[in-house]
Amino acid sequence: MMEKADFTGVEQTMLATLYLRAWESRSKDSILRDHVAAELVDRLDYDFSKLMPHGGAGNRFMLALRAKQLDEWATDFLGRHPDAVVLHLGCGLDSRAFRLDLPAGVRWFDVDLPAVIDLRRKLYPEPDWYRTIGTSVTAPAWLEAIPAGRPVLVIAEGLLMYLTEDDNKLLLQQIADRFPTGELLLDGFAPWVIRMTQRMAKTLARRGYPSYSTAIRSGREIEKWSPRFRYLEGIPLVSLYAKIPLPVYRLTYRLMNAIPATRNFYRMFRFAF
Ligand SMILES: C[S@@+](CC[C@H](N)C(=O)[O-])C[C@H]1O[C@@H](n2cnc3c(N)ncnc32)[C@H](O)[C@@H]1O
Repeated sequence: MMEKADFTGVEQTMLATLYLRAWESRSKDSILRDHVAAELVDRLDYDFSKLMPHGGAGNRFMLALRAKQLDEWATDFLGRHPDAVVLHLGCGLDSRAFRLDLPAGVRWFDVDLPAVIDLRRKLYPEPDWYRTIGTSVTAPAWLEAIPAGRPVLVIAEGLLMYLTEDDNKLLLQQIADRFPTGELLLDGFAPWVIRMTQRMAKTLARRGYPSYSTAIRSGREIEKWSPRFRYLEGIPLVSLYAKIPLPVYRLTYRLMNAIPATRNFYRMFRFAF
């Protein structure tokens, strides 16, 4: 059955990321092989062509590389903590909970705004190790529903840039206060990217998109937001260029990786606490 996907603003962004993962996964050399994304795009009653009026072809590799890096970090953590709780924040329609080969003891919580979770529940099963929570991550008290005694893996993919810096700090502090130990995985843009989207705010709004609010200047910055987080790794996305199967995009990412300003425009970060 086709499902309607009527979103604007920040919720609509998850349709763009879904579409790009689906597109990338249809190629025979796919980096991510997110076949669920491709199936969901076919099940949604939505004109995906309006999301990408100027192409966006190279962005499908950006999405695949970031998801793959997070999948690898998540698999590594869950291999060491097979009884962990996973908090997947701003999950959108992402299939990570079903894409990864999870140890049997893992409990997984997919969290997003209520309208996104309503749609998600129509598209995905809810087995007993898996729950969805429809809430803003900035709302008070939602974390109280999560079991607190186990190691936690927090994944925030494509989320923190849409929240204010104060909301981000509060969220991370609440996570640090609630869980004894864990890892935090996130992605973040350089300040110049945030400023650029703010200058383009009107154009973005016409297409139904918000601009970004929060930059991640460095991994050390998160340690200042909440001293319980210990910076482990930061990987420029374009440094993963060798995984791109199409030569023209591999070369573009490689050139971006060679120039300091563009090398660090978008990074993946990993923290322990
Ligand atoms: C760019 S999408 C990324 C979705 C998903 N992680 C992916 O990679 O496909 C951003 C997601 O963050 C969600 N989001 C934005 N603000 C949120 C908030 N305050 N609380 C929970 N989710 C939020 C949006 O609804 C959207 O699903």
